[in-house]
Amino acid sequence: MPRLRPDIHIFETPDDVAEAAAERFVNLVDDCVQRKGFFSIALAGGNTPRRLYELLATDAFKGKIDWSRTHIFFGDERAAPLNHADSNFHMANEALLKKVSIPSENVHPMTGTGDVVENARNYERELKNFFSETEWPTFDLALLGLGKDAHTASLFPGTAALNETRSWVVANWVLELSSYRLTLSPPAISAAANVEFVVTGKDKAAALTAVIDGPVDTEQFPAQLIEPRDGNLVWLVDAAAASQLRARETSRD
Ligand code: 6PG
Repeated sequence: MPRLRPDIHIFETPDDVAEAAAERFVNLVDDCVQRKGFFSIALAGGNTPRRLYELLATDAFKGKIDWSRTHIFFGDERAAPLNHADSNFHMANEALLKKVSIPSENVHPMTGTGDVVENARNYERELKNFFSETEWPTFDLALLGLGKDAHTASLFPGTAALNETRSWVVANWVLELSSYRLTLSPPAISAAANVEFVVTGKDKAAALTAVIDGPVDTEQFPAQLIEPRDGNLVWLVDAAAASQLRARETSRD
């Protein structure tokens, strides 16, 4: 099947990427709240989105967002307590969630410690309660990062979760980390109305090029698994991460 022509937006700096992602966030929340009364997002973990989350918590942005109608989920979680520096929830909470007036019932952390299989089942149940009428979780936005090994969420190369076709949430054993990770499955992410990869830094150039320009090899480049059936897929990248991409029509923002 021919691959989607990727919608890649290249910005000069990581701050420019964060600014653009924040503007998109505000517009999407506004559109969703006006159209259907709420907005749901699966947040990305790692370091890259921290800048975006911090920006959303500033006076320039936080007042433009209806937090009472915004529902925060997570794309994956590490095997760490929610108050631990390794936790994706902890990063998002410190950078954004504790700084804005979002009702606690609108924030849905994954549980990374304890019985990982039970945690995956529980989170899937929580998602099914929220997305009650749909076959898959139809997030308004799934925010994703990209690892240097072309993983996204906790869909790491060669791991079992890459082949998940039925569950929404899986406990994924990651040998290189000697750890289980909770992660949304590829179809659960691809069901989002909008998927946005945010990728910055020259250390991601090889992975970005492999995912975008390389041969389709989803075991080796798991981010290639994310192909929204009905939604939009956008890449927001800085010049350093885009430095090895094949020349193509892209928008230089
Ligand atoms: C995580 C993320 C993961 C992340 C990439 C990139 O739990 O770490 O879900 O998929 O997006 O590893 O991480 P950086 O943004 O820190 O480079």
